Amino acid sequence: MKWGTIYGAGSAGVEFYDAFHAPGHVPAMKGDVDFYIRCARRFGGPVLELAAGISPGMVKVARGKAALAERDGLSGGIRFLRGDMTRFSLRRKFRFIYLPFRSFQSLHTIAEQRACLACVRRHLAPGGRFVLNIFDPKLEYCVPGRSKVISRYRKAVDRATGNVCRLEVEERHNDALRQILTEKWHFVVRDRRGKLLREDDRWLSIRWTYRWEMAHLLELCGFDAEACYGGFHGEAPAYGREQVWVAKKAR
Ligand SMILES: C[S@@+](CC[C@H](N)C(=O)[O-])C[C@H]1O[C@@H](n2cnc3c(N)ncnc32)[C@H](O)[C@@H]1O
Repeated sequence: MKWGTIYGAGSAGVEFYDAFHAPGHVPAMKGDVDFYIRCARRFGGPVLELAAGISPGMVKVARGKAALAERDGLSGGIRFLRGDMTRFSLRRKFRFIYLPFRSFQSLHTIAEQRACLACVRRHLAPGGRFVLNIFDPKLEYCVPGRSKVISRYRKAVDRATGNVCRLEVEERHNDALRQILTEKWHFVVRDRRGKLLREDDRWLSIRWTYRWEMAHLLELCGFDAEACYGGFHGEAPAYGREQVWVAKKAR
C-alpha cells in the first residue's frame, strides 16, 4: 500500500492527535479517563498504561490524563517507556494495567494478541487487574470487501497555531477472513485564514474481535474475566458499543 499508517512519522493524524482525541473529544470514549481513574483508585498502584503513543500530541494526551489523575488525588509521577506491547519486560509488577482506546485492535494476529496478553499477565501484581477496551463490531460494516464507513468527516483545531485539520475517511475495505478493516484517511491542513498547508493520506488498519472471542482469548491466556461493560459507566454489554473488560489472573 502506498500510504503510511496514521501513527507513522510525519502523519497529520499524530500531529493533530491531541486535537482529535483529547479526553472527551470522541463520543464513544466519553468518560473513559474518569473510568480509568476510578479503576486506579480501586485497584491501586503502580499503574501501567500500554500504547500511550510516542508522538508529541499523544504524549500530551497521556500527560493530560496523568494531570487529571493527580487532580483526583492520585499521584506518584509519570514515566514514559518506549516499547512494544507484545514483548516488553519491566522489572516490576503493577496493580492496575490498562490498554485503552481500542489499541489492542492494532494487533493483527492471534499470535500478537496472545503475546500481548502474556506480557500483561507477567506484569500483573497479585490481586491486580487488567482493563482492556475494544469496540464491539457492527456487522453491517464488516462485510467482505468494500464497505460503508461509520463516520466520514471530522475536524480539529490546533489551539496553539489555530491550524485546522479536516479528516475525511474516504474508503473502507474489510478482510473478513482476518477480521481486519483498512480505512483510507485523507487529512487536509489549513491555516486560520484557510490557506492550504498540506494534504496527507494515511491508512488505519485494525482487527475487530467479537465479544465471545475476547472472552475465550482472555481465558486461554490465563485471565478470569470479572466484567465486560458496554461502555465506561458500567453499562450492560451491548451489540455495536464498546467492550470494556476487567480481568484478573486466573489461579
Ligand atoms: C488509538 S491509539 C491510542 C493512544 C492512547 N492510548 C489514547 O488513549 O489516546 C493506538 C496506539 O497504539 C499504539 N500501538 C499499536 N501497536 C502497538 C504495539 N505493538 N506496541 C505498542 N503500541 C502500539 C499506536 O502506535 C497508537 O499509539
